[in-house]
Amino acid sequence: MQLKTDRLILRPLEEKDAADLFPVMNDPDVTANLLLPHPYPAEKVSAWIRSCHAAYEVCERYDLAVVRKDTGQVIGVCSLCKVSWEHLSAELVYWIGKPHWGQGFITEAARKVLEYGFLELGLERVCVGCFACNTASRRVIEKLGFIYEGTARGEYKKLGVRYDTLHFGMLREDITNASGD
Ligand SMILES: CC(C)(COP(=O)(O)OP(=O)(O)OC[C@H]1O[C@@H](n2cnc3c(N)ncnc32)[C@H](O)[C@@H]1OP(=O)(O)O)[C@@H](O)C(=O)NCCC(=O)NCCS
Repeated sequence: MQLKTDRLILRPLEEKDAADLFPVMNDPDVTANLLLPHPYPAEKVSAWIRSCHAAYEVCERYDLAVVRKDTGQVIGVCSLCKVSWEHLSAELVYWIGKPHWGQGFITEAARKVLEYGFLELGLERVCVGCFACNTASRRVIEKLGFIYEGTARGEYKKLGVRYDTLHFGMLREDITNASGD
């Protein structure tokens, strides 16, 4: 499977993507707001990609490489995780390398992934969460048209600090109402 937007190609992760993703997954500015361990050794990056691919094969997760059309570089990942075929639901997760921040790439990628999830996979609900302090992610979620559903106080603990998490949801009927930038 392959999805295309104006500037991006989205396709399942491949083992060769480890070279592009290793520096991103080891950048503390990227991982600060994620539940990824730091540091993330090269062999674990490859093992993680293999596990994503296996989960993709059985339709449990859709971890898509975000590839820039102009350079062919894999700049990040946009995923539908925790897919439930019973509840027709999934969770959206995304991250990209710092040099590519602030250019609308994740909003562009996630819009396409949501369209794929709702219209091709037949999902009826997608949720997304971010740390309350993650203003960039919160803005992306807002631009995508998610509805705020609540805050889980101190939901996660990282390096001794508890983080509040904002939770958002989108139902299939909401996608037509998703706002523009
Ligand atoms: C969050 C992240 C995915 C956003 O990706 P991106 O491609 O830069 O996002 P976009 O360019 O599509 O949109 C970012 C928006 O946030 C805004 N923004 C960025 N930093 C901001 C800040 N500190 N305060 C307020 N708004 C901010 C941008 O201006 C933009 O909004 P705009 O289009 O209205 O100007 C990226 O920063 C990232 O990978 N961060 C590290 C990992 C992470 O936090 N992942 C999400 C976990 S929930």
